[in-house]
Amino acid sequence: MISKKMEDAFNDQITAEFYSAHLYLSMSAYLESIDLPGCAHWMRIQYQEEVSHASKMFDYLIERDGRAIIKGLDAPQVEWKSILDIFKATFEHEQNVTGLINNLVDLALAEKDHASNIFLQWFVNEQVEEESTVKGIIQQLKLLGDSKAGLFQMDREMRQRVFTPPPAST
Ligand code: FEO
Repeated sequence: MISKKMEDAFNDQITAEFYSAHLYLSMSAYLESIDLPGCAHWMRIQYQEEVSHASKMFDYLIERDGRAIIKGLDAPQVEWKSILDIFKATFEHEQNVTGLINNLVDLALAEKDHASNIFLQWFVNEQVEEESTVKGIIQQLKLLGDSKAGLFQMDREMRQRVFTPPPAST
């Protein structure tokens, strides 16, 4: 059975993952409002990914005979200055999430909870991938500058993103 300390920490992270989901859904709505449907679609997939992260932790808690607690969420931001502003905010947000995941790993090690440590390694790798992907998008946006044709093309490419559910177990 999982320790109370570890259970509480996972429940906090489930809340953080659901908050991320709401933030990205809010970003998707903003991107629709500035006529970038491909980028809005990309952000909608990001939303789905965050829900799947929360679900993965929820399932893990149950598997370890823990108790998942669903909590309320703060309202996410609704307006941004530009598409570049959105992806910079996304990068910063993912860096914060990486810090939270690292703290969870630290706690698992301190608690000698090897199962949680192994489970969390998927999230450690996921964070590397998420930060790298978003950094690439920021670089692309900076290269485009004020090119409307370039942004139109990029928006079409962003529409290609598909949701891949994470593996069900550890
Ligand atoms: Fe759940 Fe974007 O990390």
